Amino acid sequence: MEGARVRRVTGRGPVIVTAETGTATAHTVVVATNMPILDRGGFFARASAERSYCLAFAGAEPTVAGMYLSADSPSRSLRDAPGPDGPLLLVGGNGHGTGRASSPRARIDDLVAWTRQHFPGAELTHTWSAQDYVTSHALPFVGPLVPGRSDLMVAGGYAKWGMTNGVAAALALSSRLLDGHTEWAAVLDSWSAAWLRGVPQAALLNAEVGFEMTRGWLSPLTRPGGRAPAEGKGEVRLDHVGLPTGVSTVDGVVRRVPAVCPHLGGVLRWNDAEHSWDCPLHGSRFDKDGALLEGPATCSLTRVRD
Ligand code: FES
Repeated sequence: MEGARVRRVTGRGPVIVTAETGTATAHTVVVATNMPILDRGGFFARASAERSYCLAFAGAEPTVAGMYLSADSPSRSLRDAPGPDGPLLLVGGNGHGTGRASSPRARIDDLVAWTRQHFPGAELTHTWSAQDYVTSHALPFVGPLVPGRSDLMVAGGYAKWGMTNGVAAALALSSRLLDGHTEWAAVLDSWSAAWLRGVPQAALLNAEVGFEMTRGWLSPLTRPGGRAPAEGKGEVRLDHVGLPTGVSTVDGVVRRVPAVCPHLGGVLRWNDAEHSWDCPLHGSRFDKDGALLEGPATCSLTRVRD
């Protein structure tokens, strides 16, 4: 079973995986979905979802050789990369908590303006965005979903270092599952004592989540319904029974979706760069039609009829 979205993981000996297209069983299951789609273990309460941006420019002068990261704020990262017609300049920065920026589009525009100011002649060729989870104790989590279970593992929280942390997680997991011993892997263990160092930060994260939950449910009260949002825009309004509804206009089409995240009830916000609905609590994302893009939610929003 490949390319099928998993909805549930239940049972033990064997573990049963229920996906959109059927079920599968296994002695051991690794949930490697960035943020685990399973709430047991409470990993969603130990990490924050962050979005970040990277842009490619041709013709930038002066050229940059190597990789650089600013020490101050707002952060900027610069590096060069080979392009079809000469070196490209890659510029990263202006990241923010998922669903917590008033205009991700403005963040990208600001990054473009900054680059053109410092590298006259730079021409934008590509843009990317990424989503990462940053844990409260600043290390990935790799190991059992809940203490004592060796048949259900998780890996994630790579904090923008997936190219290295993802490999480290794979090595740690394979060693563990094949009865090997990798000494350094202990520090990544999902239930190691290192987590305790992150408890104050986790408390702060969850206070922010509580604030975003409250803000999300109160904000639509100040926005009466009415005209469709401008092209590329979206906003949350209350529908006729008083529930938050996301209304957006993309390519001239007005769409309405329920604006309540099916994970734990956060009220979604419009992402004007990606034309998606993003959850400010734990980072689930849905496209303009409400289709699930990434979890921890495991199901889509259902379209609201006009
Ligand atoms: S992702 Fe948890 S409430 Fe939306």
